[in-house]
Amino acid sequence: MTGASTAARRNVPAFDVEAVRREFPILSTTAHGKKLVFLDSGASAQKSRAVIEAISSVYESRYANIHRGVYQLSQFATEAYEAARVKVQRFIGAGSPSEIVFTKGATEAINLVAATYGVKFLKAGDEIIVSALEHHANIVPWQLLRERNGIVLKVVPVDDTGAFQLDAYERLLSPRTRIVAVTQASNALGIKPPIAAVTRLAHAAGAIVLIDGAQGVVHEPVDVRAMDCDFYVFSGHKLYGPGGIGVLYGKTKLLEAMPPYQGGGDMILSVSFEATEFAPPPARFEAGTPPIADAIGLGAAIDFLNGLDRAAVLAHEEALLAHATAALSAIKGVRLYGTAPDKAAIVSFTLAGVHPHDIGTILDHEGIAVRVGHHCAQPIMDRFGIPGTVRASFGLYNTLDEVDALARGLAKVREIFG
Ligand code: ALA
Repeated sequence: MTGASTAARRNVPAFDVEAVRREFPILSTTAHGKKLVFLDSGASAQKSRAVIEAISSVYESRYANIHRGVYQLSQFATEAYEAARVKVQRFIGAGSPSEIVFTKGATEAINLVAATYGVKFLKAGDEIIVSALEHHANIVPWQLLRERNGIVLKVVPVDDTGAFQLDAYERLLSPRTRIVAVTQASNALGIKPPIAAVTRLAHAAGAIVLIDGAQGVVHEPVDVRAMDCDFYVFSGHKLYGPGGIGVLYGKTKLLEAMPPYQGGGDMILSVSFEATEFAPPPARFEAGTPPIADAIGLGAAIDFLNGLDRAAVLAHEEALLAHATAALSAIKGVRLYGTAPDKAAIVSFTLAGVHPHDIGTILDHEGIAVRVGHHCAQPIMDRFGIPGTVRASFGLYNTLDEVDALARGLAKVREIFG
């Protein structure tokens, strides 16, 4: 079924998914001789021609190191890199480009906050709250800080539907809470915690808030000022952009108070053997030559998304999620995890008596790419007493037909395993 007919059925804005698919060359390839059905955008999304061409064009005619060259090519590259920063700023509603730090990805951005803000401002006994839904990237950096500073890590539980327990969160907040670090959408289950309430309550308790937007920004428009979060992080490669580039948004007063993460070129004002004066943000946090073409490629991915009707994209993804939930629920032996209503377009499930890796392998031979295992979120798997699930994570280019292909693939798994 096309996006247009989805729209008619659900009375939402039209979204021409077939036209969008034509912009992603990889989607017309095959896997094991079958038409590729790519349902692993949560791990890393595919790239549009616009992004691929933007990157090649940098290397073909605009590439040089940035902020360092007096020659024209370096100035072109510097301008394009800084223009990408402005695109990110506008895309997430930040107040200034200097609040946008380019990192390797969301993971590095969280590590940066833990290693700078955390090390400088948190003392033994101070508390950080995360949720049971977090990716390892929003758990391990805080554990490293715990080893270093003796902070206390507290965890907000979820109920049997995967829903974030707001009451329990309120009880965990204390005068010692310094940071609340919560995902915008769980990568493993798709569940979206109530970010507005989480942030409001954290601020009322005197804590700052970091939102892991890796799985959030890809599905819905983000406005960090409206969210009022203190830090927001995401990765370019999940946002249909290149790998190796990500973003840390931080409120100016926080970034200015933070020490550098790494030392090197471009993050200083002056260096002598006696003392070094650091550059202001964002340069302070961008030591060394950055992934220049990738930042520019991320800008191209943002331009691509801005060229779409994001409300229509969201409605399309909601239709995919609803269809997948219904189709999988109808298959005998399927158990869905993360059934609370507020979700991104991710379905996570097990099939009775069949190991997720076997399911993934059989689906692969049908041309269907899904992720299986713990999804780098072992604590939430432990919460449900399972080692892993099969996860289909949808992107804006997926179709209802592809959801049907997944359901047919699972029927085949059922046949094989009896
Ligand atoms: N964090 C990525 C995922 O959810 C890799 O698959």
